[in-house]
Amino acid sequence: MKKRKLLNSELDRKSISEFHQAEKTPLIVILDNVRSLNNIGSVFRTSDAFLIKKIYLCGITACPPHKDIRKTALGATESVHWEYREKTIELVKELQAEGTKVYAIEQAEGAEMLNDFQPEPGINAVVFGNEVKGVQQEVVSASDGVIEIPQLGSKHSLNISVSAGVVLWDLFSKIKKI
Ligand SMILES: C[S@@+](CC[C@H](N)C(=O)[O-])C[C@H]1O[C@@H](n2cnc3c(N)ncnc32)[C@H](O)[C@@H]1O
Repeated sequence: MKKRKLLNSELDRKSISEFHQAEKTPLIVILDNVRSLNNIGSVFRTSDAFLIKKIYLCGITACPPHKDIRKTALGATESVHWEYREKTIELVKELQAEGTKVYAIEQAEGAEMLNDFQPEPGINAVVFGNEVKGVQQEVVSASDGVIEIPQLGSKHSLNISVSAGVVLWDLFSKIKKI
């Protein structure tokens, strides 16, 4: 086998308008006070990859356009639908009232390990937290459940954009039955 690397032109990616028209994965991403612009951009890029329905940018989470978001989003702020909300807790309650299940992605008492978690039919939302403080306790308390990524090394946690990559791929693959 030659294992020749594919050219970008061979990857058959969607144009921005094709992305907008495509059926989305029934997953919503909520960023709860994420401080780093590079982390925000990185979550946009991952969300584009897995056809995420929408990203909510909450609290201090900065909004596009910004050059430091663009550096890591690489254009994904144009494809993925997004909206700013000041209070994460109000958004969580609003989504729940519409029937969306909201899960805090955190290390918490009673958390379910990601490998054991099965997304509910319908729309699921996942909340990722601040680089230092994590997801606000009131948001964790109001959520329908907490999902934790098992870690076995010496560090307490993963970078938020890395954790978004792990969780979004896992849920995308479970929803699409890949
Ligand atoms: C750097 S961590 C925050 C760590 C912080 N010490 C705390 O109290 O949560 C930033 C975010 O990444 C996600 N995260 C990182 N590692 C995780 C893990 N092992 N399981 C679940 N979420 C994780 C969570 O959403 C967390 O709020």
